[in-house]
Amino acid sequence: MIDRNIVLIGFMGVGKTSVGKLLAEKMKYSFIDTDKLIESRTNMLISDIFERYGEKYFRKIESEVVEEASKAKGAVIATGGGVVLNPSNIDNLKKDGFIIFLDASPRFIYNNIINEGHRPLLNEDNKLEKIEQLLHQRKDYYNCYHSKIDVDELSVGQVADKVLDILKGNG
Ligand code: S3P
Repeated sequence: MIDRNIVLIGFMGVGKTSVGKLLAEKMKYSFIDTDKLIESRTNMLISDIFERYGEKYFRKIESEVVEEASKAKGAVIATGGGVVLNPSNIDNLKKDGFIIFLDASPRFIYNNIINEGHRPLLNEDNKLEKIEQLLHQRKDYYNCYHSKIDVDELSVGQVADKVLDILKGNG
């Protein structure tokens, strides 16, 4: 497994960034967050990119950043929830990466995002309904994983430990 990237995919609010940071620390890997890279590349917040230039433009930058991040060696890569929508993103991430899908129920996701305002796609009055709708639309796209963890009942630390178990072959 040495030097192979660990790639976390999953819906908004499942904990990809928190788990990724902790995992990188435990594995002594570097940590890459593609959303953060997009923000530093454009010098803009993701919500502003969506507002000013729209989702299509965001996806274009996201693909460029993902292609670059995929070339890392020994990194934990936390992706944005919509990264799976473009198959070439997944092709790139799979070249040198082990893909782990963090799966969660709409209610778990809702509880995690309800007090945060930075996700443009969930900027709706009925957030739970929007989550359910997007999850349904994306169900098949998330099936591109090597391994999956149901995170509903788990803390960030427990999810990170599960990843380590999977990588050791005990998962
Ligand atoms: C998105 C998820 C976000 C961010 C953008 C679009 C999506 O990342 O990339 O708002 O389409 O699901 P997180 O999953 O880190 O919230």
